[in-house]
Amino acid sequence: MNKGLQLVGIRMFRPKKGMSILDVGCGTGSQLELYQRYDCHLYGLDLSPAMLEMARQRLGDSAQLDLGSATAMPYEDDQFDFAIAMLTIHEMNPETRAPALNEIKRVLKGNGQLLLIDYHPGPYQPLQGWLSKTIIFAAELAAGWRHYSNYRNFMKQGGLSGLVTHNGLSVEKQQVLAGGTFAILLASKKALRSRAQALFDYDPRNDHSGVSTQSAGSCCSRPAISTTPRLRVAKNRTLQSARLKWSNSSPTRHPTRTSCPIPPGLPRIQPKRTLRSAGYPEP
Ligand SMILES: C[S@@+](CC[C@H](N)C(=O)[O-])C[C@H]1O[C@@H](n2cnc3c(N)ncnc32)[C@H](O)[C@@H]1O
Repeated sequence: MNKGLQLVGIRMFRPKKGMSILDVGCGTGSQLELYQRYDCHLYGLDLSPAMLEMARQRLGDSAQLDLGSATAMPYEDDQFDFAIAMLTIHEMNPETRAPALNEIKRVLKGNGQLLLIDYHPGPYQPLQGWLSKTIIFAAELAAGWRHYSNYRNFMKQGGLSGLVTHNGLSVEKQQVLAGGTFAILLASKKALRSRAQALFDYDPRNDHSGVSTQSAGSCCSRPAISTTPRLRVAKNRTLQSARLKWSNSSPTRHPTRTSCPIPPGLPRIQPKRTLRSAGYPEP
């Protein structure tokens, strides 16, 4: 099962030669072993000396293995291109999950990515899902009460996706496997901002993007919206009909009309040139 999940993870993010990769909660190093073929700089971090010893035997000196906690990593800011945490997050105490994700964000480069693989709280497919869920449940229970209660809490909180978005990571790809019992999620550091929030925050004085702003009237300016030609025609039609409604409405209902002759966001529309205005006598 673990090998299958690891291979799906590699399909989701294929490392490039020379990248720095960190496995958080590397355990016996089976994940790092798989990444050896990509000629990358490999690092593994784990709390357990026994696990690290097994990883050392498996990996030799092809990876730097460090004893330590995910909440206080012995690495520099922006050190890694890629981090993995497979079956590590559910095992942590609930209160250490957010600090651990913050540490991962700290050690990842600005454009760095994080692959998380962990249990998923369903819904489960009738046969495969429930069978797999029962095996996981039994294994977690057998690992001891503390282990089991961390797992239960993780599932109750909605697994990985809730945790990731609450901690300022944005989900790039995700996949649910094994009948709904495992989730694989590729996230990046870019903070999630809703489109509405981005527009709300927009201030043209801080716009250094080089995209021009569209002036409408003397009192308003809005960011120019880039549109395809077809959309642009539709947008112009909408704007024209809105402008028509505006100009047909009573001036007393719009006391600002003289100071702001065009409603905010609407471009000026040139009046049609008649024969008379063009200097010709009308027939
Ligand atoms: C279930 S094992 C998974 C190991 C490995 N990632 C794999 O998939 O084979 C979870 C590992 O996370 C480690 N771990 C749990 N909490 C940790 C923490 N706060 N910091 C570092 N490692 C942690 C454990 O020691 C254990 O080796």
